[in-house]
Amino acid sequence: MLKRISFVAVCLIAAVGLNFWIMAQTPQDQDKPLTIDKKRFMQRKVASASKLLESLAVENYDAIKQHSQDLLLLSQESNWNTIQTPEYIEYSREFRVVASRLRDSADERNLDTATLGYIELTMSCVRCHKHLRSASK
Ligand code: HEC
Repeated sequence: MLKRISFVAVCLIAAVGLNFWIMAQTPQDQDKPLTIDKKRFMQRKVASASKLLESLAVENYDAIKQHSQDLLLLSQESNWNTIQTPEYIEYSREFRVVASRLRDSADERNLDTATLGYIELTMSCVRCHKHLRSASK
């Protein structure tokens, strides 16, 4: 039992760390400014991801479900995007798979898999963004 709790604690700490890391990786001023719609879209993406972390910390399954559902929908509505490389399509697909698995974990009330799902989701954010950076060089 104690092992399980410390495992979840380690995951949460890692998740919080990753979250801050992503924030730090996000450049504040862009050379090409984002359009208003795009900007609002990104704010929603970041807001849902951090609310998700909050919901995990307080073990609120309804909220976990809600926010992973939001991320899933956001990912589906990102058709403003003109980037359609095979890698990008694969990263988007992966993101949706992870988000829907997270939603299922909330249904099953499994905090461990939900927490791992959050970490996977974060990895997926980072991977896609890393790809975007290398593709734009
Ligand atoms: C499948 C690819 C993909 C995934 C997954 C993804 N993003 Fe993005 N993200 C994008 C694209 C494309 C943009 C827009 C970049 C541009 O055109 O400037 C973007 C922009 C952003 C921005 C604005 C950055 C800037 O240039 O100001 C933030 C913040 C952001 N995403 C956060 C996240 C977070 C948090 C996650 C995970 C919950 C995530 N993204 C997952 C593709 C992705």
